[in-house]
Amino acid sequence: MAERFDVRSIEQVPTYAPDPSYKQNAWVRDYSWTYREFFSNPDEFWENVARELEWFKPWDRVREWKYPYAKWFVNGKLNITHNCLDRHVLSKRKNKVALIWRGEGDEGRVFTYNQLYKAVNRFANGLKNIGVKRGDCVCIYMPLVPEQIIAMLACARIGAIHNVVFAGFGAQALNYRINDAEAKFVITADIGIRRGRALPLKIIVDEAITHAPSVERVIVLRRQNPPIELHSEIEVDFKEIMGGVSPECKPEEMDAEDVLFYLYTSGSTGAPKGVVHTCGGYMVGVYHTMKCVFDLKEDDIYWCTADPGWITGHSYIVYGPLCAGATVFITEQTPDFPDPGAWWRLIEEQCITIFYTAPTAIRMFMKLGEEWPDKYDLSSLRILGSVGEPLNPEAFEWHYRVVGKQKCPILDTWWQTEAGMHMLTTLVGEPMKPGFVGKPIPGVVADVVDKNGKPVKPYEGGFLVIKEPWPSMFRTVLKNDERYRKYWETIPNCYAAGDLAVKDKDGYIMVLGRADDVIIVAGHNIGTAEVESALVSHRAVAEAAAIGKPDPMRGNLLKAFVILRTGHSPSDKLTSELIHHVRMTLGPIAMPSEIEYVDKLPKTRSGKIMRRVLKARELGMDPGDISTLEED
Ligand code: WTA
Repeated sequence: MAERFDVRSIEQVPTYAPDPSYKQNAWVRDYSWTYREFFSNPDEFWENVARELEWFKPWDRVREWKYPYAKWFVNGKLNITHNCLDRHVLSKRKNKVALIWRGEGDEGRVFTYNQLYKAVNRFANGLKNIGVKRGDCVCIYMPLVPEQIIAMLACARIGAIHNVVFAGFGAQALNYRINDAEAKFVITADIGIRRGRALPLKIIVDEAITHAPSVERVIVLRRQNPPIELHSEIEVDFKEIMGGVSPECKPEEMDAEDVLFYLYTSGSTGAPKGVVHTCGGYMVGVYHTMKCVFDLKEDDIYWCTADPGWITGHSYIVYGPLCAGATVFITEQTPDFPDPGAWWRLIEEQCITIFYTAPTAIRMFMKLGEEWPDKYDLSSLRILGSVGEPLNPEAFEWHYRVVGKQKCPILDTWWQTEAGMHMLTTLVGEPMKPGFVGKPIPGVVADVVDKNGKPVKPYEGGFLVIKEPWPSMFRTVLKNDERYRKYWETIPNCYAAGDLAVKDKDGYIMVLGRADDVIIVAGHNIGTAEVESALVSHRAVAEAAAIGKPDPMRGNLLKAFVILRTGHSPSDKLTSELIHHVRMTLGPIAMPSEIEYVDKLPKTRSGKIMRRVLKARELGMDPGDISTLEED
């Protein structure tokens, strides 16, 4: 893979220089100096970060590294919620606003740190009372309401392992994530609300747990009036278990290497992977990046538009911001309902200062037109962030000009579920190059290399790798350590992220996309294997292959090629039925936009579908090396 990129097009990238005041006031004032400091003594660097937080017992060693297994803050004892809540409640932040939630219409709720502390403790006591114990896995399948965050923190408080599943997943996807993690408890809500409509979450849970032998109890947040009935013996009411219990719950003393959560992510092959994160290193990583990458200040009002069901929400709605004592805004509102001004109105209403969103949203805003952001006062904004997929230069420029009014730095942050925290970006105050994420942050050693691990020259494509362990790295893949090792064995002495990238002569990195069969649709990772197996589970389908087809707004669209079983023939009705089937099994985020019926699929001699060939054909490109193709 020594593809050469058009040098001029990269060299001609205009550089954007943010106002010098950003650099003067930043936590990291001089990127190069701070990076060198880190590089000269990584352990000391991370130890200094860890000391800013509170530990029940300090660590004996900063890290223990036996390739590819790392331990961080060895023998340190902590509870992340002590740092998210108690630390602030015992300080002048006690009555600072921790969480602001907006629903649709006029609905809204606010929690100070003290109020959030009490709510989390009550719910933690409620969980204990119904039998949740340290080490138990609790699946959280909830809409974006404060209780979703309260549930996560309450689990962490008592040492239960949460496994949050995004509420846009369907019953089969949820069932897999419950069974694989052997969740004993499921926390859900009767409904989520989206664009004025109720989404029946509880019904999906009912279906998902019909074949989930590990599940003992289901806790239901009832939002509807009159409340739905809780039928069977296993169901309990969310608010009821919080009632009549103490607002004090002593945090469980966790070892730095105890598991904090599982979070499933799509892999290039096979079933989704249960990424395992631990308490100590994760806390230090997300705290450090929240503070230094977002350059968080005491009076910021910070909005990350992700959902806690994704890693972005875990790290930058819940744990990072709360560890750092931020005021976090969340909303169940979508950007275009009741009109395309919804999010801009919220920025004006809440005086948001840091706005962290996804390229797919930015591209949608571009399409809707400047008149929408122009209607609102966005002058409170100080910093803009982006995550999830490449932020193309056009979207960067539009966002910089129309939303940031040519003054706000844009942080394009590259990282992954496995990474737990930001890895690459252009820190506030540094010159920005549209299309490039930037450089590894202080704390991270990254590079672009060939398949042997040798750094490639500037402007030559290669694989994005991380060369040293970092505190918030995942520790394994649940029940599949082999898959964990694979990340570290693909390229010698490196963690292979699975992304293709290119560097320029200044060391700025541009992420080009996935090197494997993971498709990123509107910022969500979708495994081809999951979509294909959902299709094949339909009675009419014999075989299926899914590819990502570039789309100007959503990054990629899913296209599926389907071979029908004998006795079935293609029709528009069948196409709608298949799309609906995927929607019901995997959820709306994994629905194909297009289905093509074929008689044959290109395969290798060993029988693997060559999606690359399908994609090349679809795009009218040269499919590359097809010598292993079986097809005649
Ligand atoms: C992609 C999300 C380009 C990438 C935090 C990565 C990006 C995958 C960026 C991880 C970015 C994420 N520029 N690509 N700024 N951020 N990606 O696990 O392909 O949901 O490997 O974590 O998203 O997605 P995940």
